[in-house]
Amino acid sequence: CGIVGIVGQQPVSERLVDALKRLEYRGYDSAGIATITEGTLHRRRAEGKLVNLERRLKEEPLGGTIGIAHTRWATHGPPTERNAHPHFTDGVAVVHNGIIENFAELKDELAATGAEFQTDTDTEVLAHLLARHRREGMRRGEAVHAMLKSVRGAYALAILFEDDPSTIIAARNGPPLAIGHGDGEMFLGSDAIALAPFTNEITYLIDGDWAVVGRTGADIFDYDGHPVARPRQTSVAVATLANKGSHRHFMEKEILEQPEVIADALGHYINFIENGAEAVFGIDFAKIPSLAISACGTAYLAGLIGKYWFERYARLPVEIDVASEFRYREIPLSPQSAALFISQSGETADTLASLRYCKQLGLKIGAVVNARESTIAREADVVFPILAGPEIGVASTKAFTCQLAALAALAIHAAKARGTVTEDEVQALVESLAEMPRLMRQVLDSIQPEIELLSRELSKCHHVLYLGRGTNFPLAMEGALKLKEISYIHAEGYAAGELKHGPIALIDENMPVIVIAPHDRFFDKTLSNMQEVAARGGRIILITDGKGAAASKLDTMHTIVLPATDEIIAPMIFSLPIQLLAYHTALFMGTDLDQPRNLAKSVTVE
Ligand code: G6P
Repeated sequence: CGIVGIVGQQPVSERLVDALKRLEYRGYDSAGIATITEGTLHRRRAEGKLVNLERRLKEEPLGGTIGIAHTRWATHGPPTERNAHPHFTDGVAVVHNGIIENFAELKDELAATGAEFQTDTDTEVLAHLLARHRREGMRRGEAVHAMLKSVRGAYALAILFEDDPSTIIAARNGPPLAIGHGDGEMFLGSDAIALAPFTNEITYLIDGDWAVVGRTGADIFDYDGHPVARPRQTSVAVATLANKGSHRHFMEKEILEQPEVIADALGHYINFIENGAEAVFGIDFAKIPSLAISACGTAYLAGLIGKYWFERYARLPVEIDVASEFRYREIPLSPQSAALFISQSGETADTLASLRYCKQLGLKIGAVVNARESTIAREADVVFPILAGPEIGVASTKAFTCQLAALAALAIHAAKARGTVTEDEVQALVESLAEMPRLMRQVLDSIQPEIELLSRELSKCHHVLYLGRGTNFPLAMEGALKLKEISYIHAEGYAAGELKHGPIALIDENMPVIVIAPHDRFFDKTLSNMQEVAARGGRIILITDGKGAAASKLDTMHTIVLPATDEIIAPMIFSLPIQLLAYHTALFMGTDLDQPRNLAKSVTVE
């Protein structure tokens, strides 16, 4: 969810909505806004995308120079207007990002003393607790402090009290919250990007903090209520909203700009590999006994490919898991090891939790992030930026290939540091990386027409299977993830060799099998797996290179032929047809491509 607040001198409602637009990547199930006018709290809320709230506000404008606003990604209670934030009770308004874990207990307790609940959300208990504390005679700050002491869970909060039209109270434990300093006005936001049109002077709250934000400044307190000072910093977040130019969707723009962004990322990393990166990288890859990697979604699949590289080239054992499971395995990790956390947004709650877990164990922490001012970047010992530029489409595309480029470079750096490759081999690997922008351009310029034809066929299917071996296996999973998240067609990615141990039972003429198989070390074995599919009447879509196409001699439904690539860059090049297939299939299905149902770009709850 995204939060904004303004304690201003001019009317705030339009500016709050503008800031919410910049936070829609955090959720778009419903949205709402509350202000105080003439001593009374007022709100407008709407189900669905922000445009619905804008429409509401046009019909029924909202005055007031102080206000809070919210865009929701539902956790407790369906995304209806009734469940949309802000939640109101007896002169208190609350917007919340996170999950109150003990809300059921608190709700029972409050209900027993007469509280009447209007919504299915966990958040509403906070408004009731605050109202109760006020009735008990507590002042506003005291009420907030007492409320925070009784809740368990994760929260970023913005609170308005009807009897105080000049302050917003903020609190953070988990999801990020930033205070923006203006000229006679103060702001609150989930991140600096939301606040960029207003100010780039930012103070980040840390976990346990709460703050009283007035027109001219903010008083910050820690969990125990002691005043604390938090640094004020200048953010580099830019005020202009990313725009998609002549493209139909951000996703299309982001797929097509990969040759340029990869070139930028490579410029940075090749320089590091070649010019004694040891000092800059801050993790001594020569000495660490192992590496842990943790991430979610697409970033996790990039990490899985990275594992193949670190193990193969640098002979460095890698432990990897999805961040939401990583901690629970209680992996015996040596404090001499390092851990990498991969995250486009740098805010994913599960990834952040596993970062903190590894930090506690004493591991050196590296963050492979796109958002350099994010919580994950701030809490890491060393940041490896992926330099992809803002990624707006919910389905990650350019961030994935830039994560791969950064991981490939880190693996080569590690191999060099550990002496597991010769200088000549390093040189050859770097030269392969440098080929990527040119090859990506060539692929993007040539394959779109056939992808469109194929996508029309895929859009008629209910299930699709993706297969691959070696680094093509995580890529098969990424292909399946991309397709399901934006087209809603059920898809699964499998290791090609695992097909015969179960999924082969699904093969029939209605289920296309997309095989990612460049002519590499694994090709012959994957070819055998394709024969197994063909023998059972399965329809194969083969994504390969010229040599692979010549060697396959299979009667495929279609073969996409990409240029020959060195093994280390194949995952990035072969990502392109996979992304385009998902994109065009979703276009045929008519889904909301940049904001598919139920998803959010950045998920700050565990
Ligand atoms: C969400 C997004 C995915 C993304 C994942 C991890 O679920 O919808 O596209 O891969 O989070 O996000 P991160 O920002 O940590 O890379």
